[in-house]
Amino acid sequence: MAISNYADFQAFVSDTMAKLGADAEFAPHERFWSTLSYDAFTQGTVPGISETVRIVTPGDAARSAFIQALKGEGMFTGSDFRRMPAGGPFFSDEQIAEIAAWIDAFCPNGDPAAGA
Ligand code: HEM
Repeated sequence: MAISNYADFQAFVSDTMAKLGADAEFAPHERFWSTLSYDAFTQGTVPGISETVRIVTPGDAARSAFIQALKGEGMFTGSDFRRMPAGGPFFSDEQIAEIAAWIDAFCPNGDPAAGA
């Protein structure tokens, strides 16, 4: 099922974490995907980590930290940060692809007036 808005995205990440038996409660960024506003998530940086690491680049999943984190790519190979969720278990390729499709579609939020 395709992710069509931010609430779907938030539920998908939280549900996947629960299925994996993973929890970011004790991470420095906590469960930021479920607590941040849509604007803070799509335009801002990772809370508790850095004021420069932007969470996502809408329209460009491959360059988005959120996707690189889940794949263990870019700055998430272990020298800067570990693959996320830190310590695993990790999201499957299919689960990551669902999230990537939403980001590549410019993070639609179900608001026709905004063209999403
Ligand atoms: C988007 C960029 C992200 C950055 C920069 C980031 C950074 C970090 C850092 C610095 C830590 C603490 C050090 C460590 O445990 O390695 C951490 C821990 C963690 N992160 Fe992330 N993270 C990101 C995304 C994510 C995502 C998308 C998830 C899951 C969906 C996630 C889940 C976790 C978990 C489960 C921990 C360990 C918490 C614990 O110690 O119990 N992170 N993250």
